[in-house]
Amino acid sequence: MTSHGPLTTHDPLPSGVTVRTVDALMDLLHACRGTWDTPDRSGDPVDLHDHALQTAALLRRSHPADKELQVAGLVHDLGHLLRPGDDAAHAEHAADAVRGLLGHRVAGLVRLHVAAKRYLAATEPGRPLSAQSALTLGVQGGPMSYEEIAAFAADPYAQDALTLRQADDAGKVVGLDAGVMEDWRPVLELVAAAAR
Ligand SMILES: [Fe+2]
Ligand SMILES: [Fe+2]
Repeated sequence: MTSHGPLTTHDPLPSGVTVRTVDALMDLLHACRGTWDTPDRSGDPVDLHDHALQTAALLRRSHPADKELQVAGLVHDLGHLLRPGDDAAHAEHAADAVRGLLGHRVAGLVRLHVAAKRYLAATEPGRPLSAQSALTLGVQGGPMSYEEIAAFAADPYAQDALTLRQADDAGKVVGLDAGVMEDWRPVLELVAAAAR
């Protein structure tokens, strides 16, 4: 496991990145500007930066007291930056990167955001997904089986992961102003301090 140095949006990161400080995490979040969920920009219509801000803002509005949930929304798709093109495991990459800094609950919610999509695809099959989310559902395992549904529902983070997923799916609006990334720095500091 390694920490990382300064980043540009085009620097591929080594595998097994561990984010050790809020400053380093903010660098990653800023690097999401102009970075997309698919390297060829064929995916969702907002970049990872705007998607992170929109997802976190929706969670702040619906769950204003739950800073960990909001922060999980902010960082949930960092895996696309850390390992471009690895749709199947992007949730795990992001969760592994932030666990040490932001704690097990944030990492757990991040890790489950793809499982939550697969759960909802099985339990609410008519629920709309973005074209890209529908496309990647296949490589992510498709709708959950009955056994997978039962296992997911038993996870203590399941309900919050579903809440995150709903914000995730809604946070893809082109041109929607959801604030500035720097406003999240003190929130990240709070969550990181609590996780220490
Ligand atoms: Fe994702
Ligand atoms: Fe997302």
